[in-house]
Amino acid sequence: MTIRLAEKKDIKSIVELGKKDMIGFSFNEDDFASYIQETNSHLVLVAEEKTILGFISIRFSVDEGEIDAIVVTSSRQHKGIGSQLLTSAIESLVQKNIIHLLLEVRRNNMFAFRFYKKHGFTTTNIRQNYYGAGEDAFCMKKEIIKQEREKVRRKNEIILAVESSCDESALAIIKNGKEIIANTVNTQIAEHQKYGGVYPELASRLHLQNMPKLLNYLLSLKDFDFTTITHVAFTQGPGLPGALQIGSVVAKTIASYLDVPLIGVNHLAGHIYAGELVKPYLYPALALVASGGNSEIVLLKESMSFKIIGQTLDDAIGEALDKVARLLGLPYPGGKAIDDLVNGKEYPLLNLPKVNVDGYNFSYSGIKSHIARLVEKEKEKGELSEKFILSVAYSVQKIFVDQMLDKLFLAAKDLKIKNIILGGGVSANSYLRKELTARGKASRYNLFIPPLELTTDNAAMIGLVASKKIAINRMCKFDAPTSANLDLEIEGE
Ligand code: KG4
Repeated sequence: MTIRLAEKKDIKSIVELGKKDMIGFSFNEDDFASYIQETNSHLVLVAEEKTILGFISIRFSVDEGEIDAIVVTSSRQHKGIGSQLLTSAIESLVQKNIIHLLLEVRRNNMFAFRFYKKHGFTTTNIRQNYYGAGEDAFCMKKEIIKQEREKVRRKNEIILAVESSCDESALAIIKNGKEIIANTVNTQIAEHQKYGGVYPELASRLHLQNMPKLLNYLLSLKDFDFTTITHVAFTQGPGLPGALQIGSVVAKTIASYLDVPLIGVNHLAGHIYAGELVKPYLYPALALVASGGNSEIVLLKESMSFKIIGQTLDDAIGEALDKVARLLGLPYPGGKAIDDLVNGKEYPLLNLPKVNVDGYNFSYSGIKSHIARLVEKEKEKGELSEKFILSVAYSVQKIFVDQMLDKLFLAAKDLKIKNIILGGGVSANSYLRKELTARGKASRYNLFIPPLELTTDNAAMIGLVASKKIAINRMCKFDAPTSANLDLEIEGE
């Protein structure tokens, strides 16, 4: 048995079925042709091979739908076909934001009356002589309640995700928590380069300019209907306060316009889960988050459970790389500039001080200050030589990354965890990816490394985490504030 939208070729059989099995059936072929052509009506049938067993016809406008007929062939009645038709119709109506469903039923048709009652319809009125002399109608109504709408939404989940925590404006459409329908990013790097780093006020202004362009792109997609969005997600923090605000307003406006639930997502949870858009994670796992604003080792005992077991005591790795790069006269973002300059080659390793930090924590500011002094001294001799720049870039990248990986594998060994996740902007670093892969393979770890395109800030990862939050009922209110220092550990609670 299949349930499908009726087509032109079905009309004749539908009318015959109606005439045969519905008392007082008064529709003709033209009426049903209009159901198929017009956008404010719905004609769905159940068929077994070429035989039509039943159909439902509904018209709707704004938030109200009216069932004109549900007909099931007499030999197949009382077998759940009517319920299937009604349930499938309600699913499509929810997607069209219909809330009130109305119908009339003959007063003496107790079977139909009970059927609708079972499906949550209540009698609102009795219309006397509605079907002719002595033939009264019960007017019945059903409110498609919030929980029911949410249930349908989850079955056909389509999340619009908004990311604006730093210098990338991004929107994505994620279907059923795994399929990326669209993932569009507008990076502001070129504009911030003039200032040698992210200029927060400029970031907010650029998000404001970029978001409508990205939205227009989504609206122009051929095979995607914007009104089918079932949830809207946004990055709630951590990030730049003004930048977060823009994304939050965009998300809240669209969610309230579409009348769909809203989900606030922690940006770091997004980075942690970016790799899952490629392959499902295994637990327990350790995640290494290496980005411009954060450097953390996170224990995930299970999905969406985050415990920070180690972190930088001062600068984040990306921030420290950016600062060293600036000292060397390299462009923003410095981490990438260092990676490009070193280009996988080896250069003389500087003799930098050893860093000793307790537990699974790490620290970058000491080495960074040491390098600042080295650069000062070198500058006293004249312009920095290429040899010096290459040696500093190579050394800092290696020492910073090695420090993180040493702590990561120490924690993995201590806690006997075999699954390792990488995430964050710095996870694009080629030395980090190569070294993690080599160490991981040597000791038979399962590695989850995001593809390069998902290492930078993007909204697909935000949509994926939102999907996990929907599954555990973690939607947020429309007045949910953004937070520059949002705590990762409360994300899955
Ligand atoms: O995750 P992200 O886009 O922003 C935050 O959420 O913080 O990370 C940006 C950081 C910058 O510090 C940038 O220098 C660094 O990621 N980065 C890199 C590479 N690409 C970006 N660091 C090292 N190697 C790269 N290839």
